[in-house]
Amino acid sequence: MKALGFTEYGEPEVFEELELPKPKASEKGLVIKVLAAGVNPYDALLRSGAMQKMRPLEFPIIPGSDIVGEVTEVGSKVKNYAVGDVVIGHPAIGGYSEYVATPSYNVVKKPEEMSLEEAAGLSSVGITAYYALQLAKLKKGEKIIILGASGAVGSIAVQIAKEKGYKVIGVASSKNVDYVSALGADRVLSYDKDDLSKVLHNKVNVVLDTSFGGKAAAEGLQYVKKRRTLCVANKFTRKCGREESESNPHEALERYEGQRSIKLLS
Ligand SMILES: NC(=O)c1ccc[n+]([C@@H]2O[C@H](COP(=O)([O-])OP(=O)(O)OC[C@H]3O[C@@H](n4cnc5c(N)ncnc54)[C@H](OP(=O)(O)O)[C@@H]3O)[C@@H](O)[C@H]2O)c1
Repeated sequence: MKALGFTEYGEPEVFEELELPKPKASEKGLVIKVLAAGVNPYDALLRSGAMQKMRPLEFPIIPGSDIVGEVTEVGSKVKNYAVGDVVIGHPAIGGYSEYVATPSYNVVKKPEEMSLEEAAGLSSVGITAYYALQLAKLKKGEKIIILGASGAVGSIAVQIAKEKGYKVIGVASSKNVDYVSALGADRVLSYDKDDLSKVLHNKVNVVLDTSFGGKAAAEGLQYVKKRRTLCVANKFTRKCGREESESNPHEALERYEGQRSIKLLS
């Protein structure tokens, strides 16, 4: 089968078309004929070599964790899927290929009304947004601030949060305020025009930072009511760290830098 990958780290020019054996389904897995694959920033980190210590892999490396495709082979122990099902998948790697193998727990059937392009862009960002909101443990009617509400993760988080009945304050650049409103946010503020610390200080139960952490996340701590939760979606891992001490939340935040999703008691 044809695949797009690389045999050395570097700029996008290292990508080449490769001829590889077609994968086989494991007992609990599926083989999926890829109909569309999403391109995620994580793929660029793999290609540049930035992930090589954290995730050592052998060449050739075929990136691609966001796919949609048609099931062509079903493992002997898989019950819920059949050949011909069109599924959204989140394989660990390998999606830039004609076929990819993945455990069946990494897929879900694609809703008919969703286009292939929409489906191919959904899995990584959707899982991250959904998982972060689960960590937030909000009750219906409670307020959440979503920093980065116009972004890939944030825009999905806004929609899930509204679906769950939370009150959502989105924060994005002023050019994207209308977009975030259209996603359903109850209120949208811009980080480049509004004085956020004045308006949002001590306002909400949870801040979900999907804006790449750093300054915005540290400022986000001011918006959280004392002793409640701060959830941050940043960087590379979806692990949840938990800080229960009374220590300075800014120091606690720094300790978790490098993690994608954290939860602090502030
Ligand atoms: N993409 C993934 O699959 C994925 C998976 C897991 C974790 N993550 C992590 O989630 C975070 C967001 O990733 P993403 O892919 O969603 O990035 P993204 O699409 O670039 O979104 C980031 C958003 O942050 C907003 N922003 C920038 N500065 C801000 C500030 N000071 N205050 C509030 N918002 C600000 C930007 O808004 P404007 O565009 O309006 O300026 C932008 O829309 C990153 O830390 C990433 O590592 C991403």
